[in-house]
Amino acid sequence: MLDLQGVSRHFISGRGHVAALHDISFAVEGGQAVVLTGRSGSGKTTLLNCIGTLDLPDAGAILYQGTNICTLSSRQRNLFRRRQVGFVFQAGNLLPWLTIAENLQFPLELNGIRGAAQQRRIEELLAVFGLSGYDKALPAELSGGELQRIAFARAIAHAPAILLADEPTASLDSDNSRRLVELMLALCTARGTMLFIATHDQELAGMIETVIPLKDGKMETRP
Ligand SMILES: Nc1ncnc2c1ncn2[C@@H]1O[C@H](COP(=O)(O)OP(=O)(O)O)[C@@H](O)[C@H]1O
Ligand SMILES: [Mg+2]
Repeated sequence: MLDLQGVSRHFISGRGHVAALHDISFAVEGGQAVVLTGRSGSGKTTLLNCIGTLDLPDAGAILYQGTNICTLSSRQRNLFRRRQVGFVFQAGNLLPWLTIAENLQFPLELNGIRGAAQQRRIEELLAVFGLSGYDKALPAELSGGELQRIAFARAIAHAPAILLADEPTASLDSDNSRRLVELMLALCTARGTMLFIATHDQELAGMIETVIPLKDGKMETRP
């Protein structure tokens, strides 16, 4: 379980003081999917970054299985991120000069999954994503929808407990967007993975039961 308690994050920039997040509190269980909505600048990315320990809140706590991940040492945070978190970004976070199989190897190597076990894992992932036989292809040879499926496959390759997806469908048409989100929901539910998707696409938001609407860094109460 992930429990956010009064999470705030402020930035001082050329525009002065910005409350990117203000007093955000909610809890999420394993296997639960959450969609963060709100227009650009509402705090979605900042919230995902705080949950993924890429950024630190300046007030509040984020408890994962009872441990406040915000007070971990930077070494412990790196370990937490590597083992427990998967990230899917807007588009193409695959390395273009590596084959699909080599791209999938990365998170497995980092988590000590090597040799025959690694090979099996990669074949299994490609099969689950309907992309068997693409192992030697380069990212440039795949369609947008296929690329985002591989990006998702890479994000869950090491079986993280938490999957963070920041506008994962921004570069896809609506059919491919819906298919990607359906796949994410099915796999995360089956594996007990917590799924956070940031999107401003209302149609996608409608596919997910738990909606956290953000406005100027605050949680809006739904009408
Ligand atoms: N590193 C930063 N420095 C200064 N301001 C930032 C930084 N990151 C985000 N912000 C500001 O915080 C607010 C929320 O940004 P963000 O979380 O990226 O929103 P969203 O992902 O919903 O578009 C915006 O006003 C943005 O300009
Ligand atoms: Mg964003």
